[in-house]
Amino acid sequence: MDSSLVILGSQWGDEGKGKIVDLLSPDYDYVVRYQGGSNAGHTVIVGSKKYALHLIPSGILHEGKKNLITNGVVIALEELVREMNKVKDVAKNFEGKLFISDRAHIVFPHHKILDGLAEKSKGKDKVGTTLKGIGPAYMSKYGRTGIRVADLMDPKYFRNRLESSMAEAKEIAEKIYGVSFNLNINKIYFQTLKLFEKIENLVCDTALMLDKGLKEGKKVLFEGAQGTMLDIDMGTYPYVTSSNSSALGLCNGTGVSPRLIGKAKIYGVSKAYVTRVGSGPFPTELKDSSGQKLRDEGHEYGTTTGRPRRCGWLDLVALRFASRINGMDGIILTKLDVLDHFEEIKVAVAYEYNGKEIKEFPASLKILEGCKPIYKTLKGWNVSTKGLKEKDKLPDEAWEFINLIEEETGTPVVMLSTGPERSEYIWIK
Ligand code: IMP
Repeated sequence: MDSSLVILGSQWGDEGKGKIVDLLSPDYDYVVRYQGGSNAGHTVIVGSKKYALHLIPSGILHEGKKNLITNGVVIALEELVREMNKVKDVAKNFEGKLFISDRAHIVFPHHKILDGLAEKSKGKDKVGTTLKGIGPAYMSKYGRTGIRVADLMDPKYFRNRLESSMAEAKEIAEKIYGVSFNLNINKIYFQTLKLFEKIENLVCDTALMLDKGLKEGKKVLFEGAQGTMLDIDMGTYPYVTSSNSSALGLCNGTGVSPRLIGKAKIYGVSKAYVTRVGSGPFPTELKDSSGQKLRDEGHEYGTTTGRPRRCGWLDLVALRFASRINGMDGIILTKLDVLDHFEEIKVAVAYEYNGKEIKEFPASLKILEGCKPIYKTLKGWNVSTKGLKEKDKLPDEAWEFINLIEEETGTPVVMLSTGPERSEYIWIK
């Protein structure tokens, strides 16, 4: 591929983006994480070793890549440094390899506490967050009380900002949630500065670096976190994450003009079925033995939290919506092999609401909760596609499934992932 490329989730996260980014990164000069934080997580297998990445782009596991964590990411420094230590055996040296935006905001321990308190107070209406402090960190950012990486360069200024940020968090905890917490400000202050020392040489203006790189014709791989349906603006609000996890987050998350980013190709990753962690509407959710079969066959338990994922049939209303708002050039379909042993496979092509057919994904939660999927039922292929590498060997029934996805979304399926290993994939277009 000649152009830069965006790989993002087109469902509710966990579509298997990590493997795809890892697989494609050898072709790119830069690999960029631009939104979210350590709520994301994927495992990359290199040889006999497994690496769980949350913040660092997967290009770190390849030679000669520049890996950027740009301004849209919220960074918990202790987690970043812990992750750097874990990949040290492969990365060796981070200078010239890992670049951290001076404009990125920092997640502090009080953000994590507030995340937990907010969730607890919501009771059965909780979002089901990862409890990594993501929402409160973005609240600080947009409330203009956040602390950025650049602010750590001036310890006195940082101290003042930290004092007011912690005081505000304490007040929220006490007055809104009726809980007092005790965090030692001195400890957090010195710990943060110590952690900062470990990454200070990696901090730079990543927006400038990317702008220059793109203008020089460098190839950039943008690595989306979470998924389109968790986008703060376009997702199933309020059951969403706190950043723009669709393509809409590319410009604000990198600080690069849409003119430059617009030249990149955009591929949305979708499982051959749907999973969701946390709460919120999920029209095609299966609470029966088929749902359990998807969970078992697909090993559907979270990388970051270990939670069992909710599972259901592929939802083309949601995928059509994702394709439109992301401007997807192609779909990368993952975990096709999980459907290998189903007699029948259902695919939602529309919803029924109050006796009417709906083809566009609704904004209203109330409508969404009342929507019943209208399914097309396809015959299962009942042979193993696991690890398949030649498209000619795909069973006819699997092609019918792929053709239906393309017809309904108007987007070509360009690649299939047929197993967890780097080598298990097929380009079909
Ligand atoms: P938060 O991002 O931790 O605030 O969680 C908000 C919602 O996004 C919850 O439903 C989480 O389960 C979901 N979420 C956050 N990160 C991921 C992810 O990487 N994969 C899947 N779901 C996620």
